[in-house]
Amino acid sequence: MGGLRARQWLARVWGGNAGTMTMTTTAAPAPIVTGSPLLGSMSDLLNDPLAAYLRARRDHGDVVRFRAGPPGLRSDIYAVFSAEGAQQVLATQAANFRKDNVFYEELRQSVGNGLLTSQDDAYLRQRRLVQPLFTRRRVNGYASQVADEAASLAAVWREAPGGTVELVGEMHRFALRVVGRILFGTDVKEAFEVIERTLPPLQEYSLKRGFSPLKAPRTWPTPANRRAGRLQAELHALCDGIIDSRRDRDDRDDLVTLLVHAENAEDGSLDADELREQVLIFLLAGHETTATALAFGLHLLARHPQEQRRVRDEVDRCSVARRMGTRSRGH
Ligand code: HEM
Repeated sequence: MGGLRARQWLARVWGGNAGTMTMTTTAAPAPIVTGSPLLGSMSDLLNDPLAAYLRARRDHGDVVRFRAGPPGLRSDIYAVFSAEGAQQVLATQAANFRKDNVFYEELRQSVGNGLLTSQDDAYLRQRRLVQPLFTRRRVNGYASQVADEAASLAAVWREAPGGTVELVGEMHRFALRVVGRILFGTDVKEAFEVIERTLPPLQEYSLKRGFSPLKAPRTWPTPANRRAGRLQAELHALCDGIIDSRRDRDDRDDLVTLLVHAENAEDGSLDADELREQVLIFLLAGHETTATALAFGLHLLARHPQEQRRVRDEVDRCSVARRMGTRSRGH
């Protein structure tokens, strides 16, 4: 599934040469996945990351170290496969891990220093400003918008020729529409076309740069850099336009409006660059992950009819689905 490739952005990928991973509680060094003599695991991770991860886990266990790139220019990339490991890295021992490696740097260059990429004081400031927008009530309020989009998609799928759909692409667009709608409210139609055209290639460009041991600086006018610059400018212009349109009004309920008006005594408010960076991070972090999880989830459900029945029963009991008059049986 191609969606997994860009999903790597959101797994923390630690690079040994461009930053450090500090892991104070490691009992033994992680086993190394060596890969080919020339490029280590670079091609495997770029071309088929899912297969590379599954193989590494099968052969070496829950924590492994990939070495990617030619000798002398190799990055070390740690992968953690267990739920307990993820809990340690993202929660209980999160303070031991930093976002200093080449992958985070590329991501920062592409979408800025928002919540996902920032650290230390900048992170804490953003977090204090943004956190009040994610109350339980508000997040619950997004459910009907998600269900609404899901119902529209199901209606289209029912008419799909041969009853077959290309799931990864469909889930990608679905997740982007959902996060776009929650962020931008009613402006999503205009925004969607630009986001769908610009964000995925920008992500791909940054990921490739993250893996490349030798790369031209972003400021050099190579065809790839110029294209990425154009895509980035277009995405920025879209976000800036929507943000500006919310400045004089607070009567809307989308996330951009809430971000524009977020402030507290200690931190003030987010400036224009910070606002755009948060919006871009939400777009990025909010669609790839969900799309991949949904695509895998549906793929597995299609192969396990008993689980499918249990999910249908749960949907039938779900209050959002009932409110919308959405019935799952027979779909
Ligand atoms: C299945 C869905 C999702 C998965 C598996 C997922 C996974 C993750 C992971 C692993 C991180 C930690 C990354 C790190 O610290 O390096 C993260 C952080 C983050 N995610 Fe998600 N995510 C999902 C959905 C979403 C959605 C829907 C949004 C927004 C609309 C979102 C926004 C964020 C943000 C803003 C952060 C940074 C939070 C912080 O550090 O305080 N994610 N996500």
